[in-house]
Parts: sequence; structure tokens; C-alpha cells
Amino acid sequence: MQKIKIAPSILSADFSKLADEIKAIERAGADLIHIDVMDGHFVNNITFGPVLIKSIRDVTELPFDVHLMINPAHNFIKDFVESGSDTISIHIEIPENIQATIDLIKSFKKKVGLAINPDTDIKQLVPYLDSIDQIIIMSVYPGFAGQSFIENTIDRISSVKKMIEHRKIEIEVDGGINSLVSGRCIDAGSAILVAGSAVFKGSLYKENIQIIRNNK
Ligand code: DX5
Ligand code: ZN
Repeated sequence: MQKIKIAPSILSADFSKLADEIKAIERAGADLIHIDVMDGHFVNNITFGPVLIKSIRDVTELPFDVHLMINPAHNFIKDFVESGSDTISIHIEIPENIQATIDLIKSFKKKVGLAINPDTDIKQLVPYLDSIDQIIIMSVYPGFAGQSFIENTIDRISSVKKMIEHRKIEIEVDGGINSLVSGRCIDAGSAILVAGSAVFKGSLYKENIQIIRNNK
């Protein structure tokens, strides 16, 4: 069985020492760095953009998993590519030509993901299944770290897993992940777990990551 990947969200890191925090989660066994970009428009919060991402690119060799909670996205893709993103995910709810943005991300030879909110019908993913590398199933309403995991996410993971059939699409679950829910997400078909608060709480990041990974 494939090893579960843990993607700590730097949204919960101490920004006053961001480079040290990233090095610490790399040493602690993180597989990816999850980067939450929010625009104060698609979601009710503002975080950071390509300039910050570029500034931390050389701090780690881990892939950057960039989660764009922005509308529009298309016009900014090139900036996120140039900042050093490895995977770029856009939200399926944004009112733009989703296929065109997927194709643009792929034209830069980057991995592409679609993120889907808790109340969006998973059938909306169907037209894009042959052109994406990952699906981010939101297990909270996007905008803030530290929210509680929404229970019906487990059923949504199972349904998406069935829907993707033989395709090599990785299911990432994002929001409220801790050791109490990680095992069930993995059993339902998730390959990547994003965790913010549960990784950065206290100072024992290695233990925090291990307990999320090995919960089951
Ligand atoms: C929510 C973000 C998540 C979040 C994860 O909008 O996409 O990545 O920061 O943080 P926790 O694990 O604290 O829910
Ligand atoms: Zn995220």
C-alpha cells in the first residue's frame, strides 16, 4: 500500500520565523508543503501570494502544494508557476473556464488539482477527471485554519474514490484533520492529508505528524 503523504499547511506556522518552521516540518517528516492562498473575495480571509512563496522556495526541497482560494485564478497562474509551485489547485466553484485554467497549469508542466467545497456536488468533477492529478476534498469551509472536520467528508471521499476509477488521481483532504479522523480518511481513499493546527500545535512536530500518519 502506498505511503500516506502529510502536507502541513503553513497557514498555522509562526510567520515571524517561517523559514525555520518550514525546515522544522521537513525534518519532522512532512511530504509536501501545503500553501493556502486566500484573496478576501473567494473566501473571507487574506493570506499571501506569489512573492511570499518565491521567498521560501529555496528553504526546502519538498514540493509546494499550492491551494488557490482565489477568484479569478487564470490571470495569476503564471505568477504562481514562477514562484516555484509544484502542484497548483484551483476551486471548481470559481466562475471561470475551469478547463482553460487546468490546461494553462498543465502547459507549464505543473501538476494540477481541483478543490471542492463541502456543499458542492462531487459530480461537478466528472468533466475534468481525465485532465487532473489531484482532488482536494474540503473537509471544512475554506477560509480559516482550526475549524472542525465535517463528518460527511468521509462519504464524499469514498464516492470520489469510486468516481475516479483507474485514474491516477490523488485524493487530498483538507481541513480539521487530526489523529481522530485521519484513519478514516485514509480508509476511505485519501492519499494526502493536509493538516495545519494539528501539525503546528506545541513544539513536537515530528510526533504530531507521526500520530496523524499512523493513527490507524
Ligand atoms: C482552509 C485551508 C486549510 C487549513 C488547514 O481554508 O485550506 O488548509 O488551513 O488547517 P487546519 O488543519 O487547522 O484545519
Ligand atoms: Zn488548503
